[in-house]
Amino acid sequence: MTLWQGRFGEGMAEVVAEFTVSLPFDRALAEVDLVGSKAHVRGLGRHGIVSPEEVDQLLGALDVVGQELATGSFAFAPDDEDVHTAIERRVTELAGDVGAKLHTGRSRNDQIATDLRLWSRRALAAIAVDVMALQDVLLHRAREAGDMYLPGYTHLQRAQPVLLAHHLLAHGWALARDVDRLVASIERLNISPLGAGALAGSSLPLDPDFVAEELGFLGRFENSLDAVSDRDFVAEALFDLSLLGVHLSRMGEELVLWSSEEFGFCTLDDAYATGSSMLPQKKNPDVAELARGKAGRLIGNLTGLLVTLKGLPLSYNRDLQEDKEPLFDSVRQVSTTLRALGGVYETVTWHHDRMQEAADGAGAAAVDLAEYLVEHGMPFRQAHALVGALVRDSLERHVPLSELVEAHPELGDAGAALLEPGVAVTRRTTPGGAGPKAVAEQMARFVRRLDVDRTRVGLLAGTADLA
Ligand code: ARG
Repeated sequence: MTLWQGRFGEGMAEVVAEFTVSLPFDRALAEVDLVGSKAHVRGLGRHGIVSPEEVDQLLGALDVVGQELATGSFAFAPDDEDVHTAIERRVTELAGDVGAKLHTGRSRNDQIATDLRLWSRRALAAIAVDVMALQDVLLHRAREAGDMYLPGYTHLQRAQPVLLAHHLLAHGWALARDVDRLVASIERLNISPLGAGALAGSSLPLDPDFVAEELGFLGRFENSLDAVSDRDFVAEALFDLSLLGVHLSRMGEELVLWSSEEFGFCTLDDAYATGSSMLPQKKNPDVAELARGKAGRLIGNLTGLLVTLKGLPLSYNRDLQEDKEPLFDSVRQVSTTLRALGGVYETVTWHHDRMQEAADGAGAAAVDLAEYLVEHGMPFRQAHALVGALVRDSLERHVPLSELVEAHPELGDAGAALLEPGVAVTRRTTPGGAGPKAVAEQMARFVRRLDVDRTRVGLLAGTADLA
């Protein structure tokens, strides 16, 4: 059915129907569309636009549609252009003439904007819950890592030893910013566009404040033109998911490196690795690689939507239909990536011997030698040069650095002791640093942060479920 028979002499060309149809993907909005329609019907009833009996009939028909959709018995018709058309058609079949009143004072323009906000609110809250599950895994593995340490890198060159827990928590804090962003985006999108009509509002006594409250929104739109054309919230969601995807990609890249024979820092569990169809010896980090690969697609979804939006005049334009597929896709991709990567971290085996071997190289404590000299009164730049010269001497003459340090009048035994395996990492004592005491404090702060975020996300997920 089309929703505009009155004005048109003949039906739509087949190719136009094929080109414009959105049902294959927007049927994902069926549930929120029903929620929005019920609020709209109650709004119509409130000011007598439809009678109390009609309200009951419409709500009853919408309930039946809900059941049919839930049980899979809802029959979509070949010419249902989108989910809104399909539901309105079925309501009319069920409620007869009263069904024709469902769309009073409403346009699909404010309807789709409402649906998509309701859907995004739920979806982003669910993603935040999934992010927190991954943070929990990282925390648990960090706790369990105890005193394990590995080289920290800059420029992918070994720089200073860091606790494994510190390294894992670094990802945990990046994810905390993702949770924060998701929460902020949900708060910002939590505004109802319902009642904006096609673009200008209505001559009927609609009550946008009432329907906003019914739907658990914080308030209603301020400007009807803006309400139907605003897709900032989709762009923000896609950005949040892209940056989250970038974090997951970097974690994936690290697992690829660490599980290689060259690093040998970890072995992936068989259940979270894949084999090669040709090379029998291979065990491949495909989950980590896909986590890395998905980021490209997520960023593509974001840039695609921004380009769609950039030239649009006010207010609603059909281009906006292009917002849904990237949004649905990014949510789905990020959700599975989070769960798969969580499994990888949960089950990976660390090889502390290899990490230690790499972290205990002579150079790893070079800055500790310089800082030792600073503690004994030498200006840092001078101490840096002195230790640098010792390192160079050691490399050029193939003499162990510890021997040179021991023989040096200003370093001696105390200096050489700093080069003993496992000592350097214990000396990172400053707040937020990589040594055991600082990391224990950091971990306690991380636990507190998770508690706070769990409450914030739980509240939002609760509100999102209300509608
Ligand atoms: N499928 C459309 C969309 O996603 C629904 C709104 C259609 N509005 C219209 N004026 N054709 O944007």
